[in-house]
Amino acid sequence: MRMRPSAAGYFGEFGGKFVPEVLVAALAELEREVDRAFADPAFWNEYASVLAEFVGRPSPIYRAERFTAEVSPATLVLKREDLNHTGAHKINNTVGQALLARRMGKKRLIAETGAGQHGVATATVGAKFGIPVDVYMGAVDVERQALNVYIMELFGATVHAVHGGTQTLKDATSEAFRQWAARVDDTFYVIGSVVGAHPYPFMVREFQKVIGTEARAQCLERFGKLPSDVIACVGGGSNAAGIFAGFIDDAGVKLWGVEAAGDGIETKRTAASLNAGTVGVLHGSRSYVLQTADGQVRETHSISAGLDYPGVGPEHAYLKESGRASYVSVTDAEALEAFFDLAKTEGIIPALEAAHALAFARRLAAERGPDDVVLVNLSGRGDKDINQIRAL
Ligand SMILES: Cc1ncc(COP(=O)(O)O)c(C=O)c1O
Repeated sequence: MRMRPSAAGYFGEFGGKFVPEVLVAALAELEREVDRAFADPAFWNEYASVLAEFVGRPSPIYRAERFTAEVSPATLVLKREDLNHTGAHKINNTVGQALLARRMGKKRLIAETGAGQHGVATATVGAKFGIPVDVYMGAVDVERQALNVYIMELFGATVHAVHGGTQTLKDATSEAFRQWAARVDDTFYVIGSVVGAHPYPFMVREFQKVIGTEARAQCLERFGKLPSDVIACVGGGSNAAGIFAGFIDDAGVKLWGVEAAGDGIETKRTAASLNAGTVGVLHGSRSYVLQTADGQVRETHSISAGLDYPGVGPEHAYLKESGRASYVSVTDAEALEAFFDLAKTEGIIPALEAAHALAFARRLAAERGPDDVVLVNLSGRGDKDINQIRAL
């Protein structure tokens, strides 16, 4: 399976670099640095040591027996990205990008954030490496993720509420692009998922690949075999791309991405870009986008801020078209049920994003046999969502 995009940044027909003139040179500079750094063992050694000592990797795998007891003959296993420092997989990526920014001599990091996890992860590495951080966040998300806003500020970052459009992640991303264009010389844009123009989707996936590489080795060691299925939620698609990358060449392992259906993909209130969208260009690359017939980005809805994005990373569009991965969706109600059930049966509070993957994983595990291992990425912990859920 071809895992590297073409020189122009395409996975099949998806990806590319659809950016204004002012960003073309900045992307070329980043591409050169990515090539150099990725070929430099010293870069990866430092990345691995920060992940071990600061993030707490490797994250364990955990058999969720009580969560599936009544429904599943198969073994359901969670990859515990919720146990990472700052509580989600996002930190794997921001460590990598901060190391690149430092190599490039950039003086400022900027980031967009939806759930706030990526903003927190960027503010964290800003504090750790001593680089100032500006975070752009939709005004609605600033409200629903107030705890994460406070944490970002505690780490010294400045959070800018974005009031345009739906005041969520799409608008925050557009604003971050504008800010990057305005100060391209000294600013490094830390993108939070496998989206944006080349080389971001490829670069972010390489930083998240650690999830899949670890999980593959852990399954072999613990169960003596590979999982039958690997499942992850898909917002922009970074935790899914990361865990899929570890298994992409294992033809017998089925890969499943779980999108947010919101009220249902047949309704307008959904965020399932691959299931309900059409091919278009958003934030610098060609992929599936929730859009109207004349190309206007549609308003989206998900109970989960981190999945409420009208686009999806181009590699997922390619994996869907090639048939290597399948993409399903889970409604707000189903995700909430999985959220409460995991808390009650295992003593683990999942992020609402991860609850989507869990809801589908439990459904799938019920259809698998006693010899099967179903692996699901628990991409983050749900502390950030508790106030929202208590208010329901
Ligand atoms: C815990 C968690 N999981 C998943 C996501 C979705 O992002 P991605 O699809 O890039 O993994 C987010 C985004 O904020 C998140 O915070």
